[in-house]
Amino acid sequence: MKTSKTSSSKRDLLSMQDMAPADISAILKLASRLKKEQKSGKPRQLLRGKTLGMIFQKPSTRTRVSFEVGMNQLGGHALFLGASDIQIARGETIEDTAKTLSRYVDCLMARVYDHADVQKLAAHASVPVINGLSDAFHPCQILADLLTIQEYKKKLKGLRMAWLGDGDNVCNDLLLGAAKTGISMAAACPAGYEPLEDVVRTAKAEGKKTGAEITITSDPATAAKDADIIVTDTFISIGKEGERASREAVFLPKYQVNSDVMRLAKKDAIFMHCLPAKRGQEVTADVIDGARSVVWDEAENRLHAQKAVLCMLMKAA
Ligand code: CP
Ligand code: NVA
Repeated sequence: MKTSKTSSSKRDLLSMQDMAPADISAILKLASRLKKEQKSGKPRQLLRGKTLGMIFQKPSTRTRVSFEVGMNQLGGHALFLGASDIQIARGETIEDTAKTLSRYVDCLMARVYDHADVQKLAAHASVPVINGLSDAFHPCQILADLLTIQEYKKKLKGLRMAWLGDGDNVCNDLLLGAAKTGISMAAACPAGYEPLEDVVRTAKAEGKKTGAEITITSDPATAAKDADIIVTDTFISIGKEGERASREAVFLPKYQVNSDVMRLAKKDAIFMHCLPAKRGQEVTADVIDGARSVVWDEAENRLHAQKAVLCMLMKAA
């Protein structure tokens, strides 16, 4: 992870761009250990007395609950700070909010619309800042996804992953996470909905180092062919509700993950989705509720992966 420019010792997690392959390995290893310890009834309170401040500009189920439960399990405490309930709503700047909250809490997590907001928060906070989803990135989701893939496939390097649908925040970070761990990823996205260009460039460069092939295509069948993992996300991310009709016209039916798409993948391919899902849109019910879907383990792994991130950023492990 990158060292912040404002403090020589703190680290932030704003996107998978901030994570070196060695950081990813360390987090996955610690996450597996914490998961095992928690399940065996022998959890360690590595963050006793620590507080996480959680700023939410947008709704959340998984991110909010998994961070709060994770802090509790580690012996710490999490504070929910809805953006409409704090003085940001009345015009207090992100800079002043960052400086103030840094005097109370040990770490900040923020879910924001504009990625620049979480960057600003990180630049002015003296404590570590974690991106809990911005319009551009969702690193916590990708760490949980990699943990899930590792559990099911017993490896990362050499696998083939297909993304179908919107080249959105999750897709951007998944490209980076895949490239850095040696997973070849093909993203099938309609014209105008591709992942960010600089992310694709970086992912391709990272892939050259690990042997991962990064491909952007508009053809779902090309992406899904012989894949080990099929992934999708909503066609209508938070904040894009006004584009519902135009998006449905572009994405449906071509980019839906259904049994025909799953048939193109390997026999033992798994299906993943960060959730929340819309059955009948980006995925059919028979796929997401079927035997190859791992979405509930994926959701659970948000908890374990984030506990590892919190411990690393707060230097507790
Ligand atoms: N996957 C995810 O981030 O879910 P929430 O929006 O419920 O937090
Ligand atoms: N792309 C989705 C992810 C939700 C977890 C969104 O931004 O709404």
